[in-house]
Amino acid sequence: MTVAFPHRLVIASANPHKAEEIREIMRAELDGFVELIDRPESIPDIEETGTTLEENALIKARAICRETGLSALADDSGLEVDVLDGAPGVYSARYGGPSQDASLNLAKLLLEMSGSQNRRARFRTVAVVSFESGAELLAVGTVEGSIALAPKGAAGFGYDPVFVPDGADGKTFAELSRSEKHALSHRGRALRDLADQLRRALGPREAD
Ligand code: IMP
Repeated sequence: MTVAFPHRLVIASANPHKAEEIREIMRAELDGFVELIDRPESIPDIEETGTTLEENALIKARAICRETGLSALADDSGLEVDVLDGAPGVYSARYGGPSQDASLNLAKLLLEMSGSQNRRARFRTVAVVSFESGAELLAVGTVEGSIALAPKGAAGFGYDPVFVPDGADGKTFAELSRSEKHALSHRGRALRDLADQLRRALGPREAD
């Protein structure tokens, strides 16, 4: 693929917590190779009408690519709880109601799981890039873990205070530093894979 260097990529997320995580992870992977641009505030909300993470990630990336005329990177993520048959999954953002309030989401999750011995769960991210040319890249990342009995920690966002990733000594995501979370997280895993694909797709840096 022939592209201008450095390649410009718009971060499609309107969620500031997610956009910041995406920026941190991708900057570490692609610094100097890809210029990351914030989504212009003038772009209205994009309705996530898909029924899978993949569909929603593609809807967002394609819409931002179309609106900006630049390549766009989007992720869609969800929490899958075994005892709830994979819910809230693709509906994680509005599990507690249409206001998308994180504390309502957490309260509903803990209520639905009250009395349950089986706390196994995972986060899954689908991350995609839509290029101006119409080409697309897609990567998936998951992190296995369990749901705590009560929220712990003040960092992060969303379900972080109740998600205990495997391999973190029983700490929730909200008790980890940003870099510790990125090393383990669904988003970190998906974006590192996507960064490898981007390096291969865009080819070596040409001499100035
Ligand atoms: P989205 O549809 O990808 O924006 O994310 C769906 C919802 O999943 C978010 O609103 C959060 O509630 C939750 N979520 C996604 N990623 C994370 C994470 O890294 N930590 C905690 N919650 C998350």
